[in-house]
Amino acid sequence: MNKQPSLFMNGREVTFENGESILEVARRLQIDIPTLCHLKGTTPTGACRICVVEVEGARTLLASCATPAAPGMKVFTESPKVVEARRLIIQLLLSSGNHNCAVRGSDDQEWTAFQLKVQGEDGSDELCPVWGDCRLQDLAYRYQVSGERFAATPTRYPMETVNPFIIRDFSRCIQCGRCVQACNDVQVNNAINFGYRGPATKIIAAGDRPLKDSDCVFCGECVQACPVGALVEKDVRYDVRPWETRKVRTTCSYCGVGCQLHLHVRDNRVVKVTGAEIAPNHGSLCVKGRFGYHFVGSPERLTEPLIKENGQFRRASWDEALDQVAGRLRQIRDAHGGDSIGVLTSARITNEENYIAQKFARAVLETNNVDHCARL
Ligand code: FES
Repeated sequence: MNKQPSLFMNGREVTFENGESILEVARRLQIDIPTLCHLKGTTPTGACRICVVEVEGARTLLASCATPAAPGMKVFTESPKVVEARRLIIQLLLSSGNHNCAVRGSDDQEWTAFQLKVQGEDGSDELCPVWGDCRLQDLAYRYQVSGERFAATPTRYPMETVNPFIIRDFSRCIQCGRCVQACNDVQVNNAINFGYRGPATKIIAAGDRPLKDSDCVFCGECVQACPVGALVEKDVRYDVRPWETRKVRTTCSYCGVGCQLHLHVRDNRVVKVTGAEIAPNHGSLCVKGRFGYHFVGSPERLTEPLIKENGQFRRASWDEALDQVAGRLRQIRDAHGGDSIGVLTSARITNEENYIAQKFARAVLETNNVDHCARL
């Protein structure tokens, strides 16, 4: 019988499966190696290098997300060399854009000048729109670094605000490529990719057009994958902060797939939706599931039955409305036969509800005229 291969992680011998990366082994053991560009379920790109680890005998630090575990390896996930490298990467990323989450620096004047510049470009006097929900900010605090070591990089591209659901803030993009992988490898929409070269590099849609004029279907997978504030939902920018909301897991109501999602609820109102990382959708959502939640709290929703009389609606109780519907259906069936009635159900309700509807049609209304409407 083949012995399972093993390596040493922070001095502890651990076994691994062939094909596992160092990062995967560490995660299985609940050893926290920070990542930025790594997107679960896609091929590692090794772009950000925040996940570097020290491997005894290796000439350089290795990106744990892209390095396969090998037998006998001696891996150190948080050695002084590793910490130093991570601090440098974070400092470079912080100075690469408008990361104004109070980690900019200790010099009051420089901070104020930087903050005023960012406020001007943001069109808001609040700190970063994803304050409290930013991987880079988390890492800056974890490794106690600020962005003052290097000169700030000037903003090269203006913010793209013309899209219906998404704001693209290129000044905060760290070019980790997670949005590209989310779009191309997870959702397979192939709407965005890296464009231009060198310092001019930018994530673009075909022809560098706004998303609204591209192949983008606004599933929002890129927004969910973005670890910083470069891609933000338009409706909640600066409005919804994570500490103000609680998450409620539920099933999407738009179709029969049963995607699992988190409703972010504030003051009993749904203010944002994200995909839950479980079957069947494993975190992904479509445009309806992710952005089509405003109807839930719409003041135009019907909250009680309406009966139309002489061309006008009037409010009625449920008992009165149900009695009227039952009475009219009975009358029509008895006078003209079951085939004079059709039942239209919906792809948005559950299988169980559709089953009950067809049972009601066949057994009570005595008709086989059952269909569904798949539209919104
Ligand atoms: Fe491994 Fe970015 S997370 S290189």
